[in-house]
Amino acid sequence: MIRALLFDMDGVLADSEPISMTVGAEYFRSLGFDTDSSAFEGNLGAGDRVFFCDTAEALGIRDFSYDDAAAYFRKRYPEVVQGRDIALPGAVDIVRSAQKAGIMTAVASSALSWKVRENIRAIGLSESDFDVIATGDDVRRSKPWKDIYELCLIRLGVDGSDAIVFEDTIAGIESGRSAGCRVVSLMTTIDGEMAGMAGADAVISDLSAIPSFSSPGELEHIISDFSGKGHGTVYGANEIIPMEMKMPHSFIIERAKRVAREAWENAYAPYSAFKVGAAVLSAATGRIYPGCNVENSSYGATICAERNAITTAIAAEGTIGIDLLVVCSDDDPPAPPCAVCLQVIAEFARPDTEIVLCSIKGVERHFTLSELLPNPFIFPTMRH
Ligand code: THU
Repeated sequence: MIRALLFDMDGVLADSEPISMTVGAEYFRSLGFDTDSSAFEGNLGAGDRVFFCDTAEALGIRDFSYDDAAAYFRKRYPEVVQGRDIALPGAVDIVRSAQKAGIMTAVASSALSWKVRENIRAIGLSESDFDVIATGDDVRRSKPWKDIYELCLIRLGVDGSDAIVFEDTIAGIESGRSAGCRVVSLMTTIDGEMAGMAGADAVISDLSAIPSFSSPGELEHIISDFSGKGHGTVYGANEIIPMEMKMPHSFIIERAKRVAREAWENAYAPYSAFKVGAAVLSAATGRIYPGCNVENSSYGATICAERNAITTAIAAEGTIGIDLLVVCSDDDPPAPPCAVCLQVIAEFARPDTEIVLCSIKGVERHFTLSELLPNPFIFPTMRH
């Protein structure tokens, strides 16, 4: 699930690069070098040191002092940016949408802290609009190293796979990818082909391409539209891309029944003597996972067969979509899943997911999840 959006600043949220280049060229002219903004073009997105030092080298400036350039920049940049709105299209809206959707936000910019904070103001937001602000002052190794994005993830307490990075440079895309995040590249600085080659998962013109959203699920849909990967199928609180099952349906049911029956043998039920076996068919892989009830001296610590099968599947695959569930017991009529299990099944299944109840004596009943649990609860931010 998308839990955090990590934004590069320059060229993503703020159109600050023209201002940086104007001030930079102004500085080199003050040293007597006739130059303009274009001198900086290859040196964007990797921090202020690269911005100045590499450009100075390209211009053949011998006794260049970075400290002197930085001091000039520190004084002039705020004066030049003052009173301008440098927000790029869609920048403010996406931050507001994320706040509404309960998604955390961070700025991850290689620029110096003072400049990042200056730019946040110049796009019409405040520092408190972001959960984390990481800058070039916080890391030693600039993008394309993964350090700045990794730092954001640590501070947010979020896994890379639950974060989306918005970038506009090759170094930035590589940095986000190395930190394990999905990266959406803007075409404010590089074109779509370059972004794709650098490893961007999706390419958009600028942030205004992302319409407003109010849940992580909605944003997931929007992003997968751009990544061209297409939508999966909604299984409860999750979207899964199901594989095409090549075997006949009746054959799959027979296999799942056998797995459930074998698990039934293994049930640990010395208190109730009511053994239950279950089998879950994972939609994405076609694999079948077993579960049995496991009772406990402290009765309430007992786990049912269905939940055991589901958690076993998740431990093996990560989030699953359930295409079929078989429950096996020595009951007549065969026992249905309890209400707690139905709620857990609903988290990972479709309303029409088939639930087959069978007894050891061979009685078999077929239901859909919606017949057994017509109104499952799905947490608001997880609804698709
Ligand atoms: N049980 C299950 O395994 N699944 C259900 O859905 C209903 C109940 C188990 C739990 C306990 O070990 C025994 O049946 C009696 O409640």
